[in-house]
Amino acid sequence: MFVVNGAMVGVFHIGEEFFAIDNRCPHAGASLAGGIIEQETVRCRIHHWKFCIRDGTYLDEDKPRFNARTFPVRVVGDDVQVRL
Ligand code: FES
Repeated sequence: MFVVNGAMVGVFHIGEEFFAIDNRCPHAGASLAGGIIEQETVRCRIHHWKFCIRDGTYLDEDKPRFNARTFPVRVVGDDVQVRL
């Protein structure tokens, strides 16, 4: 988890790509960066809601209002940059 301009952001690495998600779980605010990663998903450690790391989709039910917010990421040299 990183703080970017005061926002807590979870940064995930899949293969050669990086993805950034609002670190606060949409359910009750637990850290998604501290969640359980399974392939391209992260499961919150508190109540086990599951999200797509690529686009933040809440995967347990078709309830888009629970999708996690995502942010664009780019890699510049050795830096991973997140745009809020
Ligand atoms: S706080 Fe993440 S599933 Fe409840």
